[in-house]
Amino acid sequence: MECVVKAKPFHLAWFLQGSSAQAWGHAWTGHIGDSWMQPELFLNMARSLERACFDYVLLEDSSYVGESFNGSTEIYLKNAIAVPRQDPSVVAALMTQVTSRIGIVPTFGTYAYHPYLLSRLMATLDQVSEGRAGWNAVTGSSDFAAMNFGMQGMPDHDLRYDMADEYMEVCKGLWGSWEPGAIIADRKSGVLVDHTKVKPVNYQGKFYSTRGPLNSGPAPQGQPVIAQAGGSPRGRKFAAAHADTIVAHVKGTAGMKAYRDDVRKHMVAQGRNPDDCKVLFLINPILGETMEDAQERRRRQLAHAREHIEERMAHFGKVTNIDFGKFDVDQPLPDDVTTNGHQQNLEQYRQMAKGRSIRETMAGFNNVDLSVELCGTPDAIAAKMEETMQEVGGDGFLFSMANVNRRTLAEIEDGLVPALQDRGLVRKQYEHKHFRDNLLAY
Ligand SMILES: Cc1cc2nc3c(=O)[nH]c(=O)nc-3n(C[C@H](O)[C@H](O)[C@H](O)COP(=O)(O)O)c2cc1C
Repeated sequence: MECVVKAKPFHLAWFLQGSSAQAWGHAWTGHIGDSWMQPELFLNMARSLERACFDYVLLEDSSYVGESFNGSTEIYLKNAIAVPRQDPSVVAALMTQVTSRIGIVPTFGTYAYHPYLLSRLMATLDQVSEGRAGWNAVTGSSDFAAMNFGMQGMPDHDLRYDMADEYMEVCKGLWGSWEPGAIIADRKSGVLVDHTKVKPVNYQGKFYSTRGPLNSGPAPQGQPVIAQAGGSPRGRKFAAAHADTIVAHVKGTAGMKAYRDDVRKHMVAQGRNPDDCKVLFLINPILGETMEDAQERRRRQLAHAREHIEERMAHFGKVTNIDFGKFDVDQPLPDDVTTNGHQQNLEQYRQMAKGRSIRETMAGFNNVDLSVELCGTPDAIAAKMEETMQEVGGDGFLFSMANVNRRTLAEIEDGLVPALQDRGLVRKQYEHKHFRDNLLAY
């Protein structure tokens, strides 16, 4: 008898660089320099990704103007590097109103919001989306961001995660402050809420305190889906404790597998089922009608990166607080340079550099191929994605494409996703109403 091995399906999500003029300078972006303040492109995106049955769209965020290159804001403002960008809560809320199944995941920094405000905001988003809200919980990494909130700089890297652990405890307490069944809404008796089922939290921690209960009412999912992105050992521990999904940037299938295995090991150590957190890896698929067409597009993307080395350095410097403007670009990055920002990212840079100059390393770093090279026809890329997932073990991919526009979206929705669906690798329809249930459906 013939034995048919059915492929294990995986999850898809999109990493959107905030609601901003993000694809400034790229082709097929129309009048993005004028139209970025209006949400239409992003609402279109949410609709398109929902038609493609993506699990979620994540809105990346940071709340400062970069100033880490030559001590100036110039390169950031001139080239729209993470600025201008709008508050993600507004666009996230609008996205929930033009969709009905896809998860919507704005990013909020624990340094920028009091946990009470954050819990209320996320519970509200979960309500207006009918159970489709997620929160990308980040600790922040830039001293410039810290200064915008009255601090001198960011607390130390590992301390930020200690604080975030406590922050999560406060939020979970607040989301739990409305017991199931608290809302009666009985018109006959006139009782809306059973006050005995809404309890204070009275949390007194080392870093945060709150009284509670939450005044927004409960979140339909109990608590929003928690996404996490930090890849350092301390970051992974934090993720293993709290995250429903992790967005990861790791080079190569061996590294991806090791990363996922490590997170799963941490989860077991913390008493969690490792299948309850989906690790998604950053990709930038370069599609073409033929292999040659796709390869030509990849060649142009690599050339673009090489021609814009200063912008690449500025971007990396922004998240590591390293001013690359003061180094000789044709020499290697000095060994004594460290960061209180994105540690895993700097670690990856060093692994890639292997003694090469900053210029040589930057040309391919954090860019174009991301976790794994995906270049070709929809069918060829679908096959490579399947092979990658088989080697890694799961759980899916997070699309991060520099050139977000309607053409790119159509290539994914109408080109790549049908090829994946034909192979039984991704869903053709949502299984459930709530975001977390879809995420954990397989
Ligand atoms: C895919 C990915 C997405 C991220 N998105 C954000 C973001 O939107 N906002 C933010 O402040 N940090 C973001 N980060 C940074 C992380 O939250 C974290 O601060 C950073 O990776 C440093 O953590 P680590 O030292 O544990 O690696 C992101 C990181 C990765 C890998």
